[in-house]
Amino acid sequence: MNAPQYIDKVMEKVKNIFENSIDQSVAHRWKHAYRVMRRATILAEQLDEEVDLEILQISALLHDIDQPFNRKEEHVKRSIIKAEEILEEIGYPKDRILKVLDIIKQHSSEGKIDISTREAKILFDADKLDGVGAIGIARVFSLCGQNGLTPDEAIEWYRKKIEKASPFLQTSIGRRIAEEKLRYVREFFEKYYDEDKNII
Ligand SMILES: [Fe+2]
Ligand SMILES: [Fe+2]
Repeated sequence: MNAPQYIDKVMEKVKNIFENSIDQSVAHRWKHAYRVMRRATILAEQLDEEVDLEILQISALLHDIDQPFNRKEEHVKRSIIKAEEILEEIGYPKDRILKVLDIIKQHSSEGKIDISTREAKILFDADKLDGVGAIGIARVFSLCGQNGLTPDEAIEWYRKKIEKASPFLQTSIGRRIAEEKLRYVREFFEKYYDEDKNII
């Protein structure tokens, strides 16, 4: 099996799909998929444990492959179906496809299921880390704008999302990076409320 070849093929397909999908969430396109893959790779290296890097990277690239902007609740199921289709098209081995699909299934599972494998834990954290910090803030406002929310509503939605997801981070490194990025997000919230309240 030639590993880099599979990754290249998946990258090409993912780029193409995102470029041609007009109803895909603006916050869940190529750059999100690519950053999550990079972050997952770095976390895997830092954790220094046995990780199947190819499976992890392919899962990261495909985890939000079908997320129309107003269908967040359905996106895991939809992405699993689309990911399977893509991987079958490039001739990825069946047993490895099943592993990828299982990891994708767990990436948005805050508390609903126990995250079972090292790769699924890393993807969970890598994905959540792209939702905090400056990039996280920018993604939230563009996504909420696409969904017709006002800035106040977007902030409220973001606060709840952070509260819901943060306790479920799966790795010590992920928790540490998240804490740093969350400090910045909390400062942003404070500044926002302060400017809103104290305008003269
Ligand atoms: Fe997702
Ligand atoms: Fe994601």
